[in-house]
Amino acid sequence: DPSLPPLKPHYPPPQNAPDLSSPPQEPPHLASLIKTLNLQQHIEGGYFVETDRDPWRIPNPFYRADATTAPNTTTFYTSTGAVSADLSAQLTDQDKAQKPEEGKEKEGEEDKAKTRNASTTIHYLLTPQSPQGAWHRNRGRTIHTLHKGRGRYVIIHADEIMPSYDSHYGVAGDRKAKIETFVVGHDTERGERLQWIVEGGKYKASFLLPVGDEKEGEEEGLLISETVVPGFEYEDHDFMRVERLEALLRKEQADEVRWLLRR
Ligand code: GUN
Repeated sequence: DPSLPPLKPHYPPPQNAPDLSSPPQEPPHLASLIKTLNLQQHIEGGYFVETDRDPWRIPNPFYRADATTAPNTTTFYTSTGAVSADLSAQLTDQDKAQKPEEGKEKEGEEDKAKTRNASTTIHYLLTPQSPQGAWHRNRGRTIHTLHKGRGRYVIIHADEIMPSYDSHYGVAGDRKAKIETFVVGHDTERGERLQWIVEGGKYKASFLLPVGDEKEGEEEGLLISETVVPGFEYEDHDFMRVERLEALLRKEQADEVRWLLRR
């Protein structure tokens, strides 16, 4: 939307990746919400809790027997084409410790890789203390629904310029990806969205915006639900790195959204 202001943080961006062992101090009303909903810090920033994981298992649409093309590289197939993830290089030890799958025997893992839970749903919260969700993509399509507050989303349509991309060494050619940005909020008259969809393979980042007349320290935060189809798995998740951001975008665009990279 060209009528939106430039992409600038409204609350100070985090200086480091979230320290999962020491969550930020939140004001009482947000601490209470976090406790009531049982939210945990998310590796992207913000807080989340998985509220549903459909036990129905469906064939994994991303599964390919030839998926591994290079050490630590996984080829995956989104709704619009193949892309790849080099997960081991970007997950911290802390992230790996969170992975529930590890330590399973190989055969069970392969069987599991051929299916996925049909869907998963989470709550996701941004607060002034943890005001942004860092650049990442997911293989699955994500349906977002607003509950509270206001924020801005930024989408990079990377999948449209890497349709059969199966290596993590670069972005094909000189083509640049389109950026899309919109405000999510309750002011529908002003074009703010209550629901928004992000297709698999597109990069997404988000940040908290003030609602209007609220005082500093009294912000309600941005609370949403996200449903991923098929269900979320860590191996479908891929953080953006600065090299790819710079390859995907024109320099002025990259400069405008670099602050949303995971620290
Ligand atoms: N575990 C860590 N991140 C996520 C996520 O985004 N969705 C779900 N369902 N589980 C997660």
